[in-house]
Amino acid sequence: MPRPPTGLDRLAYTASQAARFGWFYSQYRRAQRRVSPAMRKADVPEGMPTTRDLLSALFELFRTDLANIEAGHYAMPPDMWPRPDRVLRTNRDFFRDLSAVDRRRRAQSGDEIFRRTRDDDLPYPRYFLQNFHFQSDGYLSDESAAIYDYQVEILFSGGADAMRRQALVPLSAYLRGRSVSQARMLDVACGTGRLLGFTRDAHPLLRLAGIDLSPNYVAQARRRALRGLSAPAFLVGNAETLPFADESQDIVSNVFLFHELPPKVRRIVAREMARVLKPGGLLLHVDSLQTGDRPAFDPLLGFFPQAYHEPYYASYVATDLDALFEDAGLTVRSHTPAFLSKVSVYAKPG
Ligand SMILES: C[S@@+](CC[C@H](N)C(=O)[O-])C[C@H]1O[C@@H](n2cnc3c(N)ncnc32)[C@H](O)[C@@H]1O
Repeated sequence: MPRPPTGLDRLAYTASQAARFGWFYSQYRRAQRRVSPAMRKADVPEGMPTTRDLLSALFELFRTDLANIEAGHYAMPPDMWPRPDRVLRTNRDFFRDLSAVDRRRRAQSGDEIFRRTRDDDLPYPRYFLQNFHFQSDGYLSDESAAIYDYQVEILFSGGADAMRRQALVPLSAYLRGRSVSQARMLDVACGTGRLLGFTRDAHPLLRLAGIDLSPNYVAQARRRALRGLSAPAFLVGNAETLPFADESQDIVSNVFLFHELPPKVRRIVAREMARVLKPGGLLLHVDSLQTGDRPAFDPLLGFFPQAYHEPYYASYVATDLDALFEDAGLTVRSHTPAFLSKVSVYAKPG
């Protein structure tokens, strides 16, 4: 269990998250001023939550995050004070890329990777070869992997990591009283390894692995992971055919994956995750809020796929998650909204 925070830690958390929010929110506003009218205020549809509503939900997330740290669910964020030169460099790369992103947005072009690669015999499914969020190279370049986390933080005004950390609350409850050093956790579509980094800090003895279809994101995750006994193992592979034995994992997680999958692939991945879980194992599913979770935010969920290239998002927010995972053989435990995301927990009977 991570050490309890001192009064000084609390102060450091509050100051660093305030600085983080201030920075990312100001860069979000700056980015909005630079992009095409589709993203400007005048085009925002009726009934959208106000900035005040959104910020109050974000601050609630930060309060919950600190309360979770105080309750011992996980450690203080490791990068509360990032090096300013690194932040400025990534910020420069983000803004350099923004004009290309905006060009794609105006042209409504989100499949240039597919068009670029269709003659090649690449081992990727068609749905993967897209510029999700209109981002350059989709998930298939080192440049994309280097700025992805920063792009997501700008989108969520600094709240993305805190949303991911909410999955560690049911995780710590599950691990209580178990032999952690014998337990295995697999993060599916691990991206650059953010969730596994927080998990490792909270549970250094847990055996961690991450898998992602993007070799570039996996390379970035490997570069970032600290070496040592508890360093996660990172693999390149498809969530539709996980290279793990049946009933080999105590915990399986996935963060921000399902809204990027076509409905029939969601069903395949849900079954794969259930297959590799041990009886009694836990599935931690983190993704966007869904329609009706916070009714005041519903118009925002409708607007998001118009503003960003998210071809499967509208069907995701309308999906019956419990039915999806029950069909895969899991039973529902809980749903906990966190700002614009939701942590859903399922268990494999046994
Ligand atoms: C929105 S990102 C989320 C990444 C990470 N989980 C996070 O917390 O930021 C979606 C990720 O899913 C990966 N992905 C998409 N389809 C996949 C598939 N079929 N198998 C494995 N990874 C996949 C992408 O490469 C990308 O890293």
